Amino acid sequence: MARYKENLRSCLARLKPYVAGRGIQEIAAKYGLPPDGIVKLGSNENPYGPSPKVYEAIASARPERYPEPGRLVEALAGYAGAPPEDVVIGAGMDGVMDTLTRLFLDPGDRAVIYPPTFSYYEILTVTAGADPLFLPRGPEFEVPSEVPSGIKMIFICSPNNPTGDTIPEEDLRGIVEAAEGIVFLDEAYAEFSDQNFLPLVEDYDNLVVGRTTSKAFGLAGMRLGYAVAPDWIAREYRRAAPPFFGVTTPSVAAGIAALEDLEHMRRSVEAIRHERDRLMAAIPEFRPSGGNFLYMETAEPSGEVAERLLGRGVIVRDCYSFRGAGDRALRVTVGTPEENGRFLEAFGEVCGPP
Ligand SMILES: Cc1ncc(COP(=O)(O)O)c(C=O)c1O
Repeated sequence: MARYKENLRSCLARLKPYVAGRGIQEIAAKYGLPPDGIVKLGSNENPYGPSPKVYEAIASARPERYPEPGRLVEALAGYAGAPPEDVVIGAGMDGVMDTLTRLFLDPGDRAVIYPPTFSYYEILTVTAGADPLFLPRGPEFEVPSEVPSGIKMIFICSPNNPTGDTIPEEDLRGIVEAAEGIVFLDEAYAEFSDQNFLPLVEDYDNLVVGRTTSKAFGLAGMRLGYAVAPDWIAREYRRAAPPFFGVTTPSVAAGIAALEDLEHMRRSVEAIRHERDRLMAAIPEFRPSGGNFLYMETAEPSGEVAERLLGRGVIVRDCYSFRGAGDRALRVTVGTPEENGRFLEAFGEVCGPP
């Protein structure tokens, strides 16, 4: 056994596993609570779920057949306003980023990450054998404008998970223009914000914008993400991607159906934005956010606050696993009016009335 272990790549020792938000089953078992009574506001999911058409599409998908993603790519291209040749897909945006880093990162390369931010960028960089260069965000979580040289990839998240901040267009353009490498802009939460940077891809040869159906479209469980990339990157992507791009026959059917009912998606985004305003008004410590989540700094360690909320059946996220977030950062997904009401009530009990 010991000898086999020597075959493990040394970069793995630098990693901690990705920490996801806690699940309903897990918390129900731990606290002896009925699963139905648990409010899950820890994973930035969309509580309204997908269009009813998605359920029909999944029910009639043929699991014995390999997926045929052509129509899905066309529908995504229509939605994104990009040529289908420039749209690439994957198993969630995570899968898209996986393939992209395979295109660009060699052992010893450097990639820029702006903490606190989505932690998968670090896992991708390190598993490629490359070195993350962490450039911390400023006091208002702004992305620093200086771009170091000798960087192969830059990961920018806007709206940023977990802080909710969005990058101004001018700053984004400045970074893309100064970068010697590829800029990956993660717009997982774009639909909840007032920004859409997809059109910028046309202006640059080194900008890729990642999107997902997990958030606004309510398809987190289907694992379907995409990106709009310059032609030359999209071509290489198709060369390096896993067979069928890692998507499944049901996820392709679900994606097509979801894109045929944009009205449903827009209604759920509207409801979430409305509730985001309500939560902001109720708890002034929350920072403005472009996502379907809100971020605040707590007076006590946020792990303790989160634990006490858990005891009341409300799952939120302390941000301990986000590099650079410290131990006072709390992230709360915006849920339905009832879910948010449960959160506000529990938060009032745990931290005193807002
Ligand atoms: C910023 C960000 N990017 C990407 C993802 C992953 O998205 P997907 O579910 O499409 O893999 C998440 C998931 O929470 C996220 O917060």
